[in-house]
Amino acid sequence: MRHSGETPAACAPRAEAFRDADDDRHFRDVVDAIELQYTLPSFRAYKSAVLRQLDLRPGDAVVDVGSGLGHDAVAIGALVGPTGTCVGVDLSVRLVERAQARVPAGVGNVSFTVGSALDLPLAPASLDAVKADRLLMHLDDPRELLAQAHHVLKPGGRVAIVEPDCATVTITSTDRAATRRFTDAWCDSFRHGWIGRDLPALARRAGFADLVLTGHLVTAQGFAEVDMLLEVSRTVARIEADNGPGPLTAWLATLRDDVRDEPVRATVTMFHLTARR
Ligand SMILES: C[S@@+](CC[C@H](N)C(=O)[O-])C[C@H]1O[C@@H](n2cnc3c(N)ncnc32)[C@H](O)[C@@H]1O
Repeated sequence: MRHSGETPAACAPRAEAFRDADDDRHFRDVVDAIELQYTLPSFRAYKSAVLRQLDLRPGDAVVDVGSGLGHDAVAIGALVGPTGTCVGVDLSVRLVERAQARVPAGVGNVSFTVGSALDLPLAPASLDAVKADRLLMHLDDPRELLAQAHHVLKPGGRVAIVEPDCATVTITSTDRAATRRFTDAWCDSFRHGWIGRDLPALARRAGFADLVLTGHLVTAQGFAEVDMLLEVSRTVARIEADNGPGPLTAWLATLRDDVRDEPVRATVTMFHLTARR
């Protein structure tokens, strides 16, 4: 985890955007980023694996914290059936409105509410499962979400937490120095860019048991996908604007032109922890 006192070098625009999606400067980008990520087959594959491992049953009461545009909450609603419920909680009023509009007509067991992950608007010991995906990396103190999850879960209830570890980003390039410069800067933009590796310790300290850690590789292929996943162009522009012209502009051009004999590929590992209260 980031140590207190360290401030992020916020050169990756989404590091700020996902903390304040309602801001006009960020909203369009946040919506596009979430929608485009769901177009990647590897992204959808990890999402399905997370829900499978959460072992949801008809009648379960579930919360999706940091529910974004509501894709996962709607999928959970179908798994828990009409006798179950899924509530999506998100800090963003505008994302909650969008998520509500995604609920298919006639589906009455999925709802969304504006709220903070640090103070869930839910009764103690009332839920069978809590899910949070790519949320903890943006929080000031991720321990608070684990404490909240423990508080709202019934004894024996399940938690699924998914976070990238941004230090696992790979990008195919022959220029190792420039690639490392980019990936380090991108990772360090986030409040907790290394949080994937810390999930077991965080969950154990919050009192969870039966911890299972799994990894999923998200893959982007070709410059357009890589740029969408890692916001390479905008991050390089910010780094070079802050530090003056450097090697990253040339590095970016080689990625964009796909100078290797096959399209550029990038990966990031999603750490997926399930545990029981
Ligand atoms: C990267 S998006 C992930 C959205 C969704 N979980 C998904 O996988 O598509 C992070 C989400 O967390 C929300 N968020 C950020 N800080 C939050 C907080 N303190 N409490 C609740 N939601 C928060 C953002 O508004 C955004 O919807």
